[in-house]
Amino acid sequence: MATSPAEEVAALREKLVRWASAYFEQDEPVVPDSDYDAAMQQLQRLEREHPELADPDSPSQRVGSAPLSAFESVVHRLPMLSLDNAFSAEDLADFNRRAMDRLGRTDITYCCEPKLDGVAVSIVYEQGVLALAATRGDGTSGENITANVQTIQNVPLRLQGVGIPPYLEVRGEVVIPRDAFERMNANARASNDKVFVNPRNAAAGSLRQLDSRITARRPLQFTAYSVGVVEGDLPACHDEMLKELGQWGVPISPYMKTADGVDACERYYEDIAEQRDALPFDIDGIVFKVNAIADQEKLGFVSRAPRWAIARKFPAQEVSTRLLGVDFQVGRTGAITPVARLEPVFVGGVTVSNATLHNSDEIERLAVRIGDRVVVRRAGDVIPQIVSAVADEQGDANVARQDIVFPQACPECGSMVVREEGEAVVRCAGGMSCSAQLKGVVRHFASRKAMDIEGLGDKLIDQLVDDALITSVADIFNLKETQLASLERMGDKSAGNLMVSIARARETTLPRFIYALGIREVGEATARALAQHFLTLEALLDASAEVLEGVDDVGPVVARYIRLFSEDERNRSVLDDLLAAGVHWPAVTEATGDGPLAGTVWVVTGKLESMGRDDAEQRLRTLGAKTASSVSSKTSTVLAGPGAGSKRKKAEDLGVAIIDESQWLAMMEELE
Ligand code: IVH
Repeated sequence: MATSPAEEVAALREKLVRWASAYFEQDEPVVPDSDYDAAMQQLQRLEREHPELADPDSPSQRVGSAPLSAFESVVHRLPMLSLDNAFSAEDLADFNRRAMDRLGRTDITYCCEPKLDGVAVSIVYEQGVLALAATRGDGTSGENITANVQTIQNVPLRLQGVGIPPYLEVRGEVVIPRDAFERMNANARASNDKVFVNPRNAAAGSLRQLDSRITARRPLQFTAYSVGVVEGDLPACHDEMLKELGQWGVPISPYMKTADGVDACERYYEDIAEQRDALPFDIDGIVFKVNAIADQEKLGFVSRAPRWAIARKFPAQEVSTRLLGVDFQVGRTGAITPVARLEPVFVGGVTVSNATLHNSDEIERLAVRIGDRVVVRRAGDVIPQIVSAVADEQGDANVARQDIVFPQACPECGSMVVREEGEAVVRCAGGMSCSAQLKGVVRHFASRKAMDIEGLGDKLIDQLVDDALITSVADIFNLKETQLASLERMGDKSAGNLMVSIARARETTLPRFIYALGIREVGEATARALAQHFLTLEALLDASAEVLEGVDDVGPVVARYIRLFSEDERNRSVLDDLLAAGVHWPAVTEATGDGPLAGTVWVVTGKLESMGRDDAEQRLRTLGAKTASSVSSKTSTVLAGPGAGSKRKKAEDLGVAIIDESQWLAMMEELE
């Protein structure tokens, strides 16, 4: 069937928007970059040939353009101010008192928003079309970064809706979500590229590119928090004004709330502080703003900050301390990781005394030596990292300065160490004969998402391996109660309990078992996909690399690791021993979909009160549902807890049903 250029353009735009959303918002590209580039070129060609089809909203407007030689300077028509800080509840109460005195009032309603830790940007819309974007600079003038901001996926190129002021300057923060940042850095480390210190620096660096095609590939996100110059009318309260921007397509914070009085502000602060680690972005505090714009105008400004807003800060996520020494830990794949021993320091709300140094390249990059002062970063659930060494000539008399020397042999078993070509990681070549690797393998095998052997904790695993009671994971199932009871710190009762949980673990599921094997790069999702595809362990072990690559989620690298695992005689004999010891699972049948939720696809996102996301997904699957990690038009329902960000938004955009935890629990009770 012949399609018109207009239809082809529309189809290409729809496809490109979908692919870009998978790439940037879900971090799960659905097509290779080359397909994306080809479709984009086709769209650009058609738009050139048919200028009447031009649209400022077209994804072709977001690919970036030829590099600039320098950024032009932009004078802000209204200066971009900063905020005063409050470091305690008292500071906040003082601020509130001053504001009440000036307004002659006894209570004030505030608009509360997280203080995003990113880069401030001003975006001007003229007649609803993005006309200019600038950095804050020194507050008076910044740099023209229009070409870069146009590439940010969630920045509307044209506003939609009614009542849009003819001239509207939106101000907000550009950030990189934490998970995307970690991935960016992991890729950079693997390919020996530049590693960013934190998401804020990565966002700033990405916006400062003279070549906007580079910016276009960075996972930047914009959130509006105020307006600058506006020619036209906006609502009379800050929260209503932001919601109105939201109606026109400008992204605003889903966490924004109003609070009556300073006590409610404090409760909001505590509530977000509790969620801080689970939020998708770094935040460094809460901004409280007097909600009525008329009151804001009465209060005015002092020097560089408004009298109507204040930032209540959280504990710092980056602080400096001293590097006391470096230990080398051997993981289950033999990877040798340098771990920094630190003078204990309070960072991101907890006391930290260890931090990862990743690998020898990282040590070189940081140019760090034992005895140096270092900056430690802890944000979210991510393990603490050393982000830089501080030039500190003084040193500490108690800690001798010395170079960090990577071991030439495995620090645990003395085997030789190898570094595969193109890999940054050094590994112990000892395999299972290295007790550290064996301990790691057993830990993973027994862990909750794998065989889930309750009571088989790290200390106990260390003892069992050190006493040679465990020489492979299969030995777990041959342990005797008397052997366990004779171990240090192990009473009869705990030995008995452990025997029960080991016995229980014999009955498992194929996805859990595959995951438990600890094949490199085979996480839970891949294990599930493999089980669903091959249905039996034998079929998986016999599959060629080519067949393996036909499975969702499996690329050449994963296929190679699976083959290496299957071809290893020792692994085959451990598998035989496990089956002989009675490990079994129910037959996996193709997803014909039994159960009341058969045929439905669920996405679980945000933080749940009553259980972890994994358990919630497991419960859904038990009832026949499919679970997925990203929202698409195939999603039937999204279970969203607090902190659900882009996935909730996507579901809203697509009109997918969203339910909260209490609704879900009620529904599960009905169905189970
Ligand atoms: S309001 C006049 N709201 O914090 C008030 N600022 O220290 C202008 N920031 O440069 C700022 N999140 O880049 C406001 N929800 C939020 C914010 C926020 C982050 C940044 C902003 C500003 C800096 C001030």
